[in-house]
Amino acid sequence: MTTQKLFPTLVYSSRLQVGQWKAFNERLVHECQQLRADDESGQRWSAKNYPGGYTSYNSVSRMHQLSPTFAALEKKLSRHLAAYVRALEFDLEGRKLAMTDCWVNIMPKQVVHGLHLHPLSTISGTYYVQTPKGCPGIKLEDPRLDRFMAAPPRKAGAARPWVVMPAEAGSLILFESWLRHEVAPNPQASERISISFNYGWF
Ligand code: NI
Repeated sequence: MTTQKLFPTLVYSSRLQVGQWKAFNERLVHECQQLRADDESGQRWSAKNYPGGYTSYNSVSRMHQLSPTFAALEKKLSRHLAAYVRALEFDLEGRKLAMTDCWVNIMPKQVVHGLHLHPLSTISGTYYVQTPKGCPGIKLEDPRLDRFMAAPPRKAGAARPWVVMPAEAGSLILFESWLRHEVAPNPQASERISISFNYGWF
């Protein structure tokens, strides 16, 4: 008799680099805050769609093409992307996974990032720039959740339909873009700052 675990959902997490991440993150924090100050279109969009917070998702969404620091981040991410692609056993058929979007998210106290996925992308992820102690992680939803119907509850300690991956400055997470996720309200007085990105297959 065998009971197999089929159809696993693979999520990748790692430190971005060994050492030197603090100086790198200081530059990123500075640029994220500068972007928020300068990006009036993003401020208006965020006021409507991301109350209390700031995101450049709808205004300046290709930071990797605008800032050498973000371009450096893209470069540092590439070995992680390659490792994740290996784990997923993707056959890219000689085509390339390229970063299509890269944007800034700033969550002051009580700001929430509702449940969503990233349509039109293949792989998505986030790099954590500033994570005050006690700030929320990223909550990932079991993609089968809408089909559970009459499933009984699971025992304590069993796999839950949600998993919260901690947000830690200097770390990143990669997941397939169809995986729904959200960030709970930030209870901390300091801002939680992250950089999110999408990769498309071309
Ligand atoms: Ni997202």
